[in-house]
Amino acid sequence: MTDYEIRRIGPDEAGPVADTVRAALLGGAISDEDAEWGRQTWAEGRFLAAFEGDRCIGHVGSFDGDSTVPGGARLRTAGVTRVGVLPTHTRRGLLTTLMTRLLDQEHEAGSVVATLWASETAIYGRFGFGHASNTQSIAIDAAAARPLSSAPIGSTRLLDRSELDDVVPALYDRVARWRPGSMSRQAWMWDRSLKAAREPASRNTSPGAYVAVHSDARGVDDGYVHYEVSWTPRRAGKIVGTGTVHDLWAADARTETELWRYLLGIDLVATWHGEAQPVDEATRHVLADGRAYGITQRFDELWLRILDVDAALSARRYGPANESVVIGVADERFAANTGAWRISASGATRADAEPDVVVDIATLSATYLGGMPWSELRDAGIVSADAPVVLLDALFVEHPGPYCGTEF
Ligand SMILES: CC(C)(COP(=O)(O)OP(=O)(O)OC[C@H]1O[C@@H](n2cnc3c(N)ncnc32)[C@H](O)[C@@H]1OP(=O)(O)O)[C@@H](O)C(=O)NCCC(=O)NCCS
Repeated sequence: MTDYEIRRIGPDEAGPVADTVRAALLGGAISDEDAEWGRQTWAEGRFLAAFEGDRCIGHVGSFDGDSTVPGGARLRTAGVTRVGVLPTHTRRGLLTTLMTRLLDQEHEAGSVVATLWASETAIYGRFGFGHASNTQSIAIDAAAARPLSSAPIGSTRLLDRSELDDVVPALYDRVARWRPGSMSRQAWMWDRSLKAAREPASRNTSPGAYVAVHSDARGVDDGYVHYEVSWTPRRAGKIVGTGTVHDLWAADARTETELWRYLLGIDLVATWHGEAQPVDEATRHVLADGRAYGITQRFDELWLRILDVDAALSARRYGPANESVVIGVADERFAANTGAWRISASGATRADAEPDVVVDIATLSATYLGGMPWSELRDAGIVSADAPVVLLDALFVEHPGPYCGTEF
């Protein structure tokens, strides 16, 4: 590879850089109009591009935001995104250079954690990221799922297109952020995700995109679902519909079930698909036939890297346990993250004691949100065989588990 220069870019240079990222992620060139619409998405964050002459050959970036951690605190988060190297320049260390620089910048800027969704699981462990939450694709057979065994609560209404921007983002901020792993969403993310529901469909076309809002018994809004419905090709002579859930959030698990009750009652929809649902949705337990809730695929969701161990460990809550445990941490990149921390039900403090278990930063990061049991990592040989995993799980594992639900 000839010499290249790395520099931070803003919205003015976004066009060619976005083309490079699209080329890496199997996309094609887009229209000037779409490129113009995407410009705003390059304004709020830090974007680092590598140029060989005038040509952008690789890019990494991060959005500013915050993430909920167990107990409800929200930590400043670098949402790592738009990672791509041109196919002509891969496997020569470009991502390593770009990612190292980005993480240094984020560490200096005060981000406590960095998070991302990975295209492949082999890429990010070397930079200290650990697999921290899971998600799953589901398909629910609506006829077999009905009726639900729980008693209905409250009511559901469909939003008018003109109400979406006023109601949905504010409702997400109010009801969704209790889940560890949930993150703040920038205005452009809403602009993009609600586009189909906001714009008029052309005459007589399917699919249709909608948002339904649930209100509790007092009439206070406490959840919403953004979904799409469409006709599917004839199946055994019948014409049937299919539904897809894009975004479903509620103040608690019971209200999530009320949103599913609404969806499963929509006439003509034979199957509901969820592309990336939480792995612990309680709704499956109240379906007439539990097997109506089919899990198509389970996969890794958030990858997380702790940038500031002191701040991260002291921000989250820990489960009830009578004893404490000392965890030794090694981080080759950030010296202040190497040390020992005593964790107990009442919190985390730096310790001057012999550790009960020693892990690298990627392993600690995987366990941080409470979705990756230490016992599983011990069974896999990633955590040492003599680690006190029962105690570690009692302190770290969370229910409901972490779920981000925002692909970025
Ligand atoms: C993933 C990607 C950015 C890696 O860029 P790169 O410049 O080739 O990465 P590097 O040369 O710095 O690789 C560093 C190390 O990671 C390994 N690695 C990088 N990408 C890998 C992958 N996809 N699978 C397995 N190993 C990978 C390299 O082999 C190398 O290992 P080594 O140090 O043992 O030799 C690039 O392959 C790409 O753009 N892929 C398509 C788009 C994509 O998947 N982006 C990520 C979106 S989340």
